Amino acid sequence: MKAFDTAVWEQGRVRMLDQRLLPQREVHLTFGSAAEVADGIRDMVVRGAPAIGCAAAYGVAVEALRLATAGIPPTAESMAPGLDLLRKSRPTAVNLAWALDRMAPLIAAGDPPTLPQRLLEEAHRIREEDFAACRAMGFHGAALLPDVGDRTLTIMTHCNAGALATGGYFGTALGVIRAAGESGRRLRVIANETRPYLQGARLTAWELMRDGFDVTLVTDNMVGHLMKHGEVDAVVVGADRIAANGDAANKIGTYTVAVLAQRHGLPFFVAAPLSTIDRATPTGAHIPIEERSAEEITVIAGQRIAPEGVKVRYPAFDVTPAELITAIVTEAGAAFPPNVATIARLFGD
Ligand code: MRU
Repeated sequence: MKAFDTAVWEQGRVRMLDQRLLPQREVHLTFGSAAEVADGIRDMVVRGAPAIGCAAAYGVAVEALRLATAGIPPTAESMAPGLDLLRKSRPTAVNLAWALDRMAPLIAAGDPPTLPQRLLEEAHRIREEDFAACRAMGFHGAALLPDVGDRTLTIMTHCNAGALATGGYFGTALGVIRAAGESGRRLRVIANETRPYLQGARLTAWELMRDGFDVTLVTDNMVGHLMKHGEVDAVVVGADRIAANGDAANKIGTYTVAVLAQRHGLPFFVAAPLSTIDRATPTGAHIPIEERSAEEITVIAGQRIAPEGVKVRYPAFDVTPAELITAIVTEAGAAFPPNVATIARLFGD
């Protein structure tokens, strides 16, 4: 597959496919400072945990270049305000902080004249490593999918954990689906619409159809009915932050799907790179949950669907406890079942 420009470098600026306009229009925007990239992340031009990490890394590089071009030496001090905006742009996906922490030693090492180039090279490395991680976790995950004999395997997914949510290639949950397809499995995908932002309808359905997959779109409230009637064999989702004990935060509604999967005896897999595992967060109860603007619930495609002034609750993520997860699949293999010990082993401890 050809990689998407979820966040790439182009002529001294960060270029991103504007995911807000998909699937109707493929428009790219460019960004020339950390503040602009932070706005792009918060406003969902780019979204999905690994993609946000890549965008933040390029955001650091572009900030150093902006300062140097303005005659201001890029240093830890001059870069601090821009880095702060990036760090605060979205709270749940730990890949963002992870990418910034990875760039930090380069900034601390000093040498302002070479810093923009060194930061850019690190950002490129983060994106390339993400490509490789997605492919590796895809094949680890595909090997765990159930054997359904002569039947076509039906995999349900929630939100978009595809190439669009990563450095631009393969994806995490959709990477497992792509790897299964490459391995010759006959499969179909059920994409949950994913209210309220509709990443499943707008992004997953589009991304999979583009690559020739058999994909069926359903609304979130159909999940239990479909499982009860034997129409799902396994669930594969991504994650925004996984705690040290295997509790996994992902797009709102994921927890509901996991509870239903357990009720119906279906395997529930979480696919995510090691950069999504936050070992400093002991359990899911410590994961910050982003609350987004009520307008994303009360307005759909510019059309108001709820009374003006209605009270709205909008946690944008939920936490699925480790006990509901069959395995967490990473580029280093699977934590099967996920717990403190199996997760530590992924890091070689
Ligand atoms: O709000 P979003 O679209 O950034 O949420 C994205 C998700 O919840 C994804 O499932 C998650 O980031 C995994 S992406 C590989």
